[in-house]
Parts: sequence; C-alpha cells; structure tokens
Amino acid sequence: MIITAVNGQLPGPTIEAREGDTVVVHLVNESPYNMTIHWHGIFQRGTPWADGPVMVTQCPVTPGATYTYRFNVTGQEGTLWWHAHISFHRATVYGALVIRPRGGDDAYPFPKPNREETVLLGEWWNASVYDLERMAFITGNTAPPADAYTINGKPGDLYNCSAETYGFQVQSNETYLLRIINAALNTPMFFKVASHNFTVVGADAAYTTPYETDVVVIAPGQTVDALMVAGAAVGRYYMAASPYDSAIPNGPPFSRTTATAVVEYVGSATDAPPQLPPRPEYNDTNTAFRFFSSLTALVLPGKPTVPLSVDTRMFVTVGLGNADCQPEQLLCNTTGTRAPIFAASMNNASFLLPDAVSMLQAHYANASAGVYTRDFPGQPPVVFDYTADASDTAVLKYTTKSTKEMVLQNTRLIAKDSHPMHLHGFNFFVLAQGFGNYDEATATPRFNLVNPQERNTIAVPTGGWAVIRFVADNPGMWFMHCHFEAHLDLGLGMVFEVQDGPTAETSVPPPPVDLPQC
Ligand code: C2O
Repeated sequence: MIITAVNGQLPGPTIEAREGDTVVVHLVNESPYNMTIHWHGIFQRGTPWADGPVMVTQCPVTPGATYTYRFNVTGQEGTLWWHAHISFHRATVYGALVIRPRGGDDAYPFPKPNREETVLLGEWWNASVYDLERMAFITGNTAPPADAYTINGKPGDLYNCSAETYGFQVQSNETYLLRIINAALNTPMFFKVASHNFTVVGADAAYTTPYETDVVVIAPGQTVDALMVAGAAVGRYYMAASPYDSAIPNGPPFSRTTATAVVEYVGSATDAPPQLPPRPEYNDTNTAFRFFSSLTALVLPGKPTVPLSVDTRMFVTVGLGNADCQPEQLLCNTTGTRAPIFAASMNNASFLLPDAVSMLQAHYANASAGVYTRDFPGQPPVVFDYTADASDTAVLKYTTKSTKEMVLQNTRLIAKDSHPMHLHGFNFFVLAQGFGNYDEATATPRFNLVNPQERNTIAVPTGGWAVIRFVADNPGMWFMHCHFEAHLDLGLGMVFEVQDGPTAETSVPPPPVDLPQC
C-alpha cells in the first residue's frame, strides 16, 4: 500500500499568507501517480490555469514532472485549504491555507486570540485510496466507508488500533482561534470540545457575525474559524469529531467512529483521563441545520455584499440515481448491455471529465467540439425523476459576466443526503435554505438580502434546498460539484464557462509555459 504525502507530512504543510500576497507553489511529483492540486476557495482572479481540478483546468502532472502554481490571495481572509484534485488522492494530499489580514493579527474584526490552532478533520483507509477509487469507478459502486476519522492525521485513542492522538496545550483564561477544516472525503462532521463553547467568527474565509455554539457542524470542503476560551479550571478535555450522516437511521456506536484529540491545560495532571463531550446522534439533522442556517455575514465596509438584482436564475436538482453505464465502466464491457448503474447528476446530467485535453485549454483555443458541450439543461428535464437516462458527456452552462441565482434542490429517489456543493473561483451568498421541495412563494420572503453568509461550499439540507447567488465575473472554466469524492466520481458536477471580458485583464491569459499537456 502506497501513501502519497506532501513533503513527507500528513496532513501536508500549512501555507501561511497575508491578504494580498502572491503564493507560489512548485509541485514536484515524486509519487507514482498522476497528480494535481487545487487551492480550495481561492478566487484565482486572472489565474484560472492555477485552479487545479484535473481535466477541467489542467492535464495531470505525471510522475516525475513538475508544475508551478502561482496565484494571489486577494479579497479574502481566514481559513482555506489545498488538496489533490484527482482520483481519491486528497485523502492524504491536503493541508491548510491560512490567510491573515494585511494589517496583521490586530486587524481581525474580533478580539485578538492569544494563539491559533489548525484542526484538520480527515478520513483514513487501510488501503490504497487510488485502488479504492479505481475499483469503485470500474464497478460503478461507491467506495467503502473510511476505516477511521482523524484529527490532524491521527485517529485518537477511541480507536483500538495504533491509538495515535493529537493534542495541544492551553493556558487558563486565554483565547484560542481554532481553524477547523473538513478534509474528509465523504463525511460531514460534528465537532465538539468537552466543557467548552465556541464563538464562530468565520466560515470559508469570510467573516461571520459572532455565533455562540457548543457544536460546530462542518461538511467536506468547508472551514470554520471559531474562538474558544480556556476556562479557569485546569484539566484535560477531548475534542471529538464524529460523523453526521442523515441517510443512516442508526449509526454504529460512537466509540468506534469518533476521532479525538486532547486539549490539555498547562498545570493539569497529565495522567488524568480526558473528559469526553456528549456528541449529537449520527443522524441529528436538526443540529446540523441549526448550525448551517444560523450563520450570517459580518458586513464590513468595502466588502462585496449580496447583489440585489439577478441576470440568470437556475433551478438545479442534485442527487443520486440511476443512469446508463459509461463505456469506461466494466459492467458495460462484461455484460455487453447498457444496464443502468448507480450514478449522480445535476439536472439529470451526469458529469464526465474529458480525457484528451482539459476543458480550459479547449475553451482558450476555442475548440470545445468533442471536449464538452454547452447543453447543460437550465431546468431539470424531468423534475425529481432519475428514471430517465443521464447524459454521458461533459456538460456545462455557458454564462457571460452576470449575476446568477441557483436553487439547489436535493432529490431523494435513491437515498436522501446532504450534498456539500462546492463552487470553484467564486464565493456565493446563501440566501435561504429549507427542507422538502423548493416553493418560490414561501421561500422568497425568507431570502436574507441584508447579511447572508458567504461560502464556497453549501451543505444543501438533506431532502431540502438552498438558494445561492454569485457574480460570474472571472473568465475561465469553474467546476461546481459535490464535495463528497464518491459522488463526484458518480457525476455530481457541472462546469460554469465564464466568457472573456472586453480587455486583456478581463480575459483568460495565455497558459503558463509549464502547463502539463495530456
Ligand atoms: Cu475542494 Cu473541486 O474541490
């Protein structure tokens, strides 16, 4: 079994930047696998070739090859992250990307913390994730669940395997900024620290109105910045990350599915057994929804606010269903038939990556024929019905510089699930969310047009809907997809093609000289 790690570390190194900095990362691929890296949540204004999703903005960096990613971190502060964007490699190829205010830590719009801790939640398999992904893709099945959840790469002592536990020390009466990142492939998490509360001050590198809570809920792809005050009483406390899965009525016992780390007060007895926090049930959708829907943006002077007028509105279903098998998939070849297989789609279109040239290269060369089509259905062709065949070509919606509103509607034909939908290249504003079928008449009065939260990943409520708005003003090819890696493989994605503006500065620049070729 081969583990691919970055600079020998798991999680990989944290990238520390200040708002306005230029970040340059040299990827030297010493692994035996094709590789790309995505800078999750970075706007990539004017640098679409650095975004990283394989076959969307670049061909893979082959074993032994190199590629330099160069981009600005402008107009956003807080916690983001980076990860491999090919196969399941992000299970081990990931790390934090921290953007501090240009004016230093005194410029935070909240009391300056005494210290900061980065908390990366992950998933671990006792197997090669590359093999798992190939097997799942070839057979049309989903990948098996993780063997362990992790905090900063370690499962913690509730697992009876190696029992490696991450920990950090705190001082009484000091304030800690926890930068929490869900890097898990397929699992939203509840995060708690025994006997401690949090004040959420940011999410997805956008400041939020301070929000008090004893639990942080975080879907794959999302980040949460939360202040935690160390109390007067010393002691040892577990921080615990346990899965949220709305689809499973009764989950396995918590003790076998919870990652832990230890918060240890300076001066506490080091042999004292840590306290464990009470954790929400596996399927506690109420707690998840309360957290997700309670966040609002901290409105700051000079920051973009939600656009009040909209150029294009889309109603898009997201979900799992059946589709014709793809020619690459083994089932087609062995049976010789086109028996329906498990698939995922947006508006009944199941997304498939091209294989000869990246979509951005095709867009730049004005040669999309045979690479992608512009036939992404603006409305679901058959609402809530996945019995119709899904498309097996790469699909996208063609947009010019415009404000888009999307209603994302979960369907539950096969299984209800809360899909974390991630948009590359932009943040969006979350206007409203709810359960059941979207109903225009009752939903629009609930739109928050004053201080909606800004995100790059929205956990669309299980069996429910969410409405988002964003300004598509950065030319390029921008992936939108479910951040459950297993669902991305099944086709739960689409690409926004954003046209060039009138000037060179508002157009896709020429590709870097070292851009990998297929
Ligand atoms: Cu964090 Cu397209 O992904």
